[in-house]
Amino acid sequence: MNKLLYIQASPRNERSNSTDVANTYIKTFKAAAETNSVSTLNVWDMNLPEFDGDRLNAKYSFLHGQNPSDAEAAAWQEIVFIAEQFKAADRYLFSVPMWNFSIPYKLKHFIDVITQPGLTFSFSPETGFQGLVTGKPVTAIYSRGGEYNNDEAKGMDFQKPYLEMALGFIGFSDINSILIEPTFADPDSVSHAISTAKDLATTLANK
Ligand SMILES: Cc1cc2nc3c(=O)[nH]c(=O)nc-3n(C[C@H](O)[C@H](O)[C@H](O)COP(=O)(O)O)c2cc1C
Repeated sequence: MNKLLYIQASPRNERSNSTDVANTYIKTFKAAAETNSVSTLNVWDMNLPEFDGDRLNAKYSFLHGQNPSDAEAAAWQEIVFIAEQFKAADRYLFSVPMWNFSIPYKLKHFIDVITQPGLTFSFSPETGFQGLVTGKPVTAIYSRGGEYNNDEAKGMDFQKPYLEMALGFIGFSDINSILIEPTFADPDSVSHAISTAKDLATTLANK
């Protein structure tokens, strides 16, 4: 049994370039073995909890080695559920549009919910921060209207570097990337970008 968790971050559904390439990955992965299974979390359909009040205070209690109050502990349970659901997979796939040089805010919200002490990372003064989601591969598909994979523009890319840093912080080290760029261009350039991305998705899904 090999369980893939797919985090879908574009709200454009069948019009989405990143979802289109993710579907190629998923189709290949499912065909590779009968025991391969896929769960999808569409961050636009999730009712993600607000991360303030008792939930936020619970995080600070854990970080400072203190016990949360009963109200904080109760509020924290919703965070635990989502983080444990995330950790239950064997491998991961993210489809991520670039929004204003970074990631869509719903995906940032999801990352803020799952990046938690005692759940996806640990901290001690002796060892510092350590990620707890280890030994699992992840593939992230990045679509962007412009082109950022060059010396001139790469400093404006806060999408891929941010997600890779956030994933690395919680323990991922086998991080694979698929770029779809440019998607704001002439039809030939766009279809070349998509087919190149689908080829790489097929290769990575069979890995
Ligand atoms: C709110 C919003 C912000 C965007 N910001 C950028 C941007 O900063 N840079 C860029 O190159 N493209 C930007 N785009 C274009 C998208 O990255 C591009 O259309 C991409 O292919 C979307 O992926 P999707 O088709 O999977 O949704 C933006 C699109 C939207 C809707």
